[in-house]
Amino acid sequence: MKSYELKKKYIEFFKKNNHKEIVNASLIPENDPTVLFTTAGMHPLVPFLLGEKHPAGKRLVNVQKCIRTGDIDEVGDEFHLTFFEMLGNWSLGEYFKDEMIEMSFDFLINELGLDIERIGISCFKGDKDAAKDLESAKKWEKIGIKKGKIIFLPKSENWWGPAGNTGPCGPDTEMFYYTGEKTPKEFNNEDKKWVEIWNDVFMEYNKNKNGKYEKLKQRNVDTGMGVERTLMTLNGYDNVYEVDTLKPLILKIERLSRKNELRSKRIIVDHLRAATFILNEKIEPSNIEQGYVLRRLIRRAIRHGRLLDIKHRFCSEIVKEIFEVYKSEYKFDERFILEQIGKEEEKFDRALNQGLRVFENEIKNLKNKKLNGEIAFKLFSSYGFPLEMTEELAKEKKLKIDKEKFEEEFEKHRELSRTAAVGKFKSGLADHSIETTRLHTATHLLLQALKEVLKDKSIMQKGSNITHERLRFDFNFSRKLTEGELKKIEQKVNEQIEKKIDVHWEEMSLKKAKEKGISGAFEHKYGEMVKVYFIGDYSKELCAGPHVTNTKELGKFKIVKEESSSAGVRRIKAILGN
Ligand code: ALA
Repeated sequence: MKSYELKKKYIEFFKKNNHKEIVNASLIPENDPTVLFTTAGMHPLVPFLLGEKHPAGKRLVNVQKCIRTGDIDEVGDEFHLTFFEMLGNWSLGEYFKDEMIEMSFDFLINELGLDIERIGISCFKGDKDAAKDLESAKKWEKIGIKKGKIIFLPKSENWWGPAGNTGPCGPDTEMFYYTGEKTPKEFNNEDKKWVEIWNDVFMEYNKNKNGKYEKLKQRNVDTGMGVERTLMTLNGYDNVYEVDTLKPLILKIERLSRKNELRSKRIIVDHLRAATFILNEKIEPSNIEQGYVLRRLIRRAIRHGRLLDIKHRFCSEIVKEIFEVYKSEYKFDERFILEQIGKEEEKFDRALNQGLRVFENEIKNLKNKKLNGEIAFKLFSSYGFPLEMTEELAKEKKLKIDKEKFEEEFEKHRELSRTAAVGKFKSGLADHSIETTRLHTATHLLLQALKEVLKDKSIMQKGSNITHERLRFDFNFSRKLTEGELKKIEQKVNEQIEKKIDVHWEEMSLKKAKEKGISGAFEHKYGEMVKVYFIGDYSKELCAGPHVTNTKELGKFKIVKEESSSAGVRRIKAILGN
């Protein structure tokens, strides 16, 4: 079966069961600084799993592109990938275990034609947080799965979520398919021949900031089926690179390489596919956040090109093949992607040769089997070798790296660059006009008022955007604010304005500020010495400014909107009137 056929079958099946297809969302979670990438189809749906109404209804289905870098070291084996497509369907407070398990069975047996004897099921074993999931197990049995093929496993295996530290989660039931020769009598999840193909999560819990699991007000279903893995299983392949979306890429790299290093070929194909999709979100290679993940993916692919003895710059050839594979389903900004890949390859090409020479020289003189952390740091800072790349190089020579020393050097370096950056940083303010300055000061009062009214000291700034007309402030909080709370917050801010309080700032060391319990949204972007803004004794915050000198300059504070911004993050828009 081909990739588009499986996706089509899945979507059609759930549409037939009254689901609405929703968009394949961006790989970059909008307005959520807590995760770098969309890792599952549920991610953009968090507010709706928590109870907000979704415009498309309560039964949803889609194909979602995902990035997971947690297992990046495993890439190169039969089935680990950093980029993959996930099929998923959701019930937002509607159907639950019974109907979901019926649909899963129907799809696997009647639509995909799988052999019922080769299906294995795992269910949640139960613990202090939630009961054993007998309901799911009974349903599977009733529908025709033999007892020996149903097992119970603990939270580490059969519980999914939350995606970040807090949020919706729950016990799950997972479906495995046996890929070996003779159909076994029992299901054994530790035998690699049993491949997991689908996960039905019963999201009826919310993990709160104290780590407690509380019942959500609605019972949801969240499922995920990895497209590449399922196709590998359905087609009887022994690795995902045989699947129709990956095979042409492997063939391409085979034509370019002079050596037969299977692992390197797979790493190149996987990493450049992930890089292409990240670049398509307009992210450029850099040294921070998503840009750094992107850079590491591209650089590692280039290094593995060397191991295959490819003599020329090859990334764009693979990337063009990726465009070809996905052209009927995704629209690519081909020019931007090729330009960025080209630039990064050029940048790293020379540094890689020089860095490899430094590495080779160093290991000649090694007395023990350990590579000095300072050398690893030099490779990082002067030649752009991500640490894991040096680790990989070392591993190939059966060496270890003194990582502690590396970290030490890294910290030293970071302190220096922090200090250099402090003058430049402007708290996300694009200009320093009087309007934006007033709104900026109001933002500080708003943050303090939020903490007081909602009685939650952990509330922090998650995002801020100020125009001449309004402020927009994002903060962590798990539910909608009530009318009453919004009124109280407005009142508190206006009280401070009416008190005509002086605003002043002091410079102190970051350490001292922390000792005083003062924090700010961008601590890591400040240097050794920081600026602390005081609004009387009402608010103290680390901030680069600028601010008004007295709150009487602000005018009347009014909240115009309160809404969800993303998972666990609320957004307030407010203005200052006369
Ligand atoms: N969110 C669940 C997963 O990723 C379905 O497995």
